[in-house]
Amino acid sequence: MFFTHPDWDKWGQLAEFLREKSPPELDNKTVKNISLSEARRYHGATLSIGRGARRQFLRQVDLTGRTKLLDIGGGSRAYCIEACKKYPKLTATVLDLPEVVQIAAEFIESFSLSDQISTLAADFNFDAFPSGLDVAIMASNLPMYGREAIGHVISKSYDALVAGGEMHLIGEALNGRRDGPADPAMWGLAQTLNNSMGLAQSVDDCMLYFSNAGFINIQAKEFIPGVLKRISGIKQA
Ligand SMILES: C[S@@+](CC[C@H](N)C(=O)[O-])C[C@H]1O[C@@H](n2cnc3c(N)ncnc32)[C@H](O)[C@@H]1O
Repeated sequence: MFFTHPDWDKWGQLAEFLREKSPPELDNKTVKNISLSEARRYHGATLSIGRGARRQFLRQVDLTGRTKLLDIGGGSRAYCIEACKKYPKLTATVLDLPEVVQIAAEFIESFSLSDQISTLAADFNFDAFPSGLDVAIMASNLPMYGREAIGHVISKSYDALVAGGEMHLIGEALNGRRDGPADPAMWGLAQTLNNSMGLAQSVDDCMLYFSNAGFINIQAKEFIPGVLKRISGIKQA
């Protein structure tokens, strides 16, 4: 309930934020340079909120035979934890901002998965991804960044995957007509409060990023109805 509480007062001044003249910024103030205590509070929440989502991911996606997963903006490592428990031969790297990675190291201990899960302090907008991946996941970052930034992350992921590897983008996406659902629209509008380049992106936008990067077998599936979609693609073998 308190996840977005810091923005509460700003919603009351939405009209003023919409009149903001200075150009929006790529760095998203809600996550960049957050304090360790804020990262601990935020990711305690995402670990708990993400519990159902990570189980849903493994119900929808079969990772049999996969060995090297990168969770981009992985936060509390919600997806990696469940995946590595189910697939003992899988190794995973959680890429996130330096403060978050420190907190992730605390979670790693508590699940006794340090031999399978490692962390990488990086900014996915600027830093290179490790190579030789066969799975890339990016979850719950979509409205926080603009079209160019998300397209860039999808392309970098494509380059980091081995042939036959797969990418999953799980995000708050609008339908193709851009007239709903309300939840992704609200997340997009919320970006105005922090003058970020983020916006409500549609499923069609996301599928285009995948095809521009070179992915094949691109699919969009309902993930959490009314909230999250899962867009996936395969790197051509
Ligand atoms: C809403 S949380 C989602 C966490 C996790 N993927 C999940 O689904 O539970 C967004 C995460 O993306 C990370 N993030 C946002 N922008 C980032 C960037 N530019 N580089 C690396 N990580 C970033 C945040 O620090 C945060 O951990």
